[in-house]
Amino acid sequence: METRRKALRRLAAAAGAAGLSGCSRLLRPDPEPGVEGLPPNPHAERLPRRQFAQEAWLPTDDAGNAVQPRHRRLLLLRLDAEPSTEAARTVERAMRTLESAYDWRPAGVFHALAWGTSYFERVGALDRAPIEPPQVLSRTDDPDLLAFDAALVLSSDVPSHLTAVDGAMFGSRSTLNGVAVERRLGDVFSVSERRTGFLGEGLPAAHADAEGIPEWGVPDDAPMFMGFFSGRRRTQAGEDRVAIDSEPFADGTTMHVSHLRQRLDAWWEGLADAGRVARMFSPEFSPADVSSFGDDVPFSDRVRDHGREHGVVGHHEKVAQVRRDGEPIVLRRDFNTVDGGRAGVHFVSLQRRLDDFRRTRKAMNGWYVRKEHEGITDRKNNGILEFIRVASRANFYVPPRNRRSFPLY
Ligand code: HEM
Repeated sequence: METRRKALRRLAAAAGAAGLSGCSRLLRPDPEPGVEGLPPNPHAERLPRRQFAQEAWLPTDDAGNAVQPRHRRLLLLRLDAEPSTEAARTVERAMRTLESAYDWRPAGVFHALAWGTSYFERVGALDRAPIEPPQVLSRTDDPDLLAFDAALVLSSDVPSHLTAVDGAMFGSRSTLNGVAVERRLGDVFSVSERRTGFLGEGLPAAHADAEGIPEWGVPDDAPMFMGFFSGRRRTQAGEDRVAIDSEPFADGTTMHVSHLRQRLDAWWEGLADAGRVARMFSPEFSPADVSSFGDDVPFSDRVRDHGREHGVVGHHEKVAQVRRDGEPIVLRRDFNTVDGGRAGVHFVSLQRRLDDFRRTRKAMNGWYVRKEHEGITDRKNNGILEFIRVASRANFYVPPRNRRSFPLY
């Protein structure tokens, strides 16, 4: 039988051959030239204005779900230079080097330069920025609330591309895929933290030698450490839904980044298939139901009844409470990691306002189901909360491409 991975490769190849005609609507010409003293971006015609636009460039599986890139790298940055037009030119020229070197597709590199709360504070614009510092969002976690100046978000199906971009932008690599590197992000930033990870069938099993994972590993075909696929089309906000729709930040978005640690030994060894399905989705589903899901999770939206009747509720049925007009309000771009030798998740999510993330996370806390059954506590039988801990949180703004260098400066 053809594995899911092979089927995806075949579909990706077919999409490439068909020419991805849907992309053109995203390639609106930039209304402004970009950075003072530089010519307009020569790559603007073939790149989306939104730095986070990927939907139209991703292959889909046979149910029509977008298949996200398999390898990720998140470089969390400290600004070493004073904000200036010259520094903005350096950043812009460095980013254009990435654009010359790689196509905007999974076989190339998707990249976005985002700006964090400490940058906006530094330029005295935090009160005008579309983001605010992170908060503690549950009474069971005590995360580090972090502030960075910026973040470079990278993803690709080709892991060596990410290493090469890192070396060209922050090391001494002189060419990138044949393109001369004349300006680097490292000329103005230094890397405070480097976060790495992966997503997709086979990769969790290949990274199972880490703390928090059972000795036998995880199933070979698991797309994520917890065993389930997590990107069905209707469980994701569309890119239009998360794009800021008014000036001065239009076509940007907000990005939340948290680091979660996972206890996968308890997940895989303390529960049977039905218990995992009940906690991830809902007790109304069997493992066979979940295998038959296509581009949605057809849940009945009866989370309180489920708590009362079954003494357990699912992660999905809780977070889906905050859908708006039937659509989720956050676009998840999270991935698994073994950074620090521990199994975990870098939870990257995009939303129009950070409050959309906070509302979703509060729905996930499930305070409203604890009173339905004494077996449901802050963590126990309350979705997946027993198996995850939030280590840190940080917030960013992702500007549109032509305003990606020193926004609000
Ligand atoms: C270890 C961490 C997590 C895992 C393994 C996980 C896994 C999943 C899975 C398997 C689904 C079902 C999606 C599908 O079938 O396509 C889902 C849905 C979702 N999750 Fe998570 N999740 C995690 C953390 C979070 C966090 C921290 C949030 C946000 C606070 C979140 C928000 C959502 C949302 C909004 C949905 C879609 C709900 C809808 O359909 O309306 N998840 N998650």
